Amino acid sequence: MGSVLKGKRILVGVCGSIAAYKASELVRTLRKDGADVTVAMTEAATQFIGPATFAAFTEHPVMLEQFPDDPGSGIAHVDIADRFDMVVVAPATANIMGKAAHAVADELLATILNIVECPVIFVPAMNYRMWRNDATQAAVTRLRASGKLVIDPDVGDLATLAVGAGRYPETERIVAAITEAFSYSQRLTGKKVLVTAGPTREPIDPVRYISNRSSGKMGYALAAAARAMGAEVALVSGPTALEPPFDCELLKVETADEMLAAVKARIRAQDFLIMAAAVADFQPVDPAREKIRRGSQRTSIGLKAAPDIIKEIRGRFDGTLVAFSLQANDDHQRARQKMLDKGAQYIVVNSYNEPEAGFESDNNHVWVISHEREPVELPLAPKKIIARQIWEEITRSQE
Ligand SMILES: Cc1cc2nc3c(=O)[nH]c(=O)nc-3n(C[C@H](O)[C@H](O)[C@H](O)COP(=O)(O)O)c2cc1C
Repeated sequence: MGSVLKGKRILVGVCGSIAAYKASELVRTLRKDGADVTVAMTEAATQFIGPATFAAFTEHPVMLEQFPDDPGSGIAHVDIADRFDMVVVAPATANIMGKAAHAVADELLATILNIVECPVIFVPAMNYRMWRNDATQAAVTRLRASGKLVIDPDVGDLATLAVGAGRYPETERIVAAITEAFSYSQRLTGKKVLVTAGPTREPIDPVRYISNRSSGKMGYALAAAARAMGAEVALVSGPTALEPPFDCELLKVETADEMLAAVKARIRAQDFLIMAAAVADFQPVDPAREKIRRGSQRTSIGLKAAPDIIKEIRGRFDGTLVAFSLQANDDHQRARQKMLDKGAQYIVVNSYNEPEAGFESDNNHVWVISHEREPVELPLAPKKIIARQIWEEITRSQE
């Protein structure tokens, strides 16, 4: 199988870290895998390793100066916006990440990072104190929130013989991250996706409600993955404690009725509807207007069925509908019947009695059931990974 890196134009940005020399192994490996590699070095990086090494390994001149003696067209950094398929900053100093997170463009590599729109990966390497420093961590969070991949450094022996988190990772791990970033398809470009996530709250009185243990993590991960695959995403979310996913429209709701209204209002133009929310099945018949006081005669709660959102939107939506089912076992026959009853193209089955997976957990283990194919098992993995795998499954027939 040919490497996904073949022919890819990769800029490796080398910064002033003691690990700068290790970038030469990365460059050589990427070239062996068929990538066309160019190196940009910061001025500080040249204190650690000479440009001649990288020029020889890449067979391209090394990019060094923001203001070269011979300025050429004078706007070379602007051309760079389209010249590369990916930028990998390795090693990335605390300094370059701080600059990139705050649009500082005071030398060539920092300027490039401000101008490129291709995927960017940072490979930090630094003293453990520098890595755990609040300002460094804030820069990392900011970069990640804007869609950049910042690889966690290794924990181990550092240059000063101290031990801690900050070590430049093995080349193999960096190449794996680069390969994964390239393989990650853009299959949802131009598509519109509506995701529901989280629990709903059904009021008993103004201060109390009936809800469930859904954390929203699976739905949020599905929204983020769809966005990363190029979709325009709207996320209708019940109450959760989660950070909104990057660049998705977030519509916050509380009750099943509000969720229904939000979905109805948006449904027409969507290509995909992912019903990952744990919508209440029941709601109190007649919520009290005032707080029910201790000693009140009212000691029982009458329940009625909450709206069935999928049923309510039938006939208004002709895209791909993905329903979720939470069951105590992997009874695929039952799930398949639910898929047919709901008019869904897919149903994702999670079990709620499996340790390490499902509600509230960061991990999940699911089965994707469709009309044509055998059920596909997605083994226990972080929800972010399961989300990508679900999208891979439900877009497979659209390849
Ligand atoms: C010997 C030495 C080793 C250094 N190693 C690192 C390092 O591993 N990571 C880091 O973030 N900064 C390191 N620094 C500090 C950076 O070189 C310094 O912040 C520099 O301004 C970074 O510039 P640049 O980001 O433009 O490459 C080191 C400094 C010295 C003198």
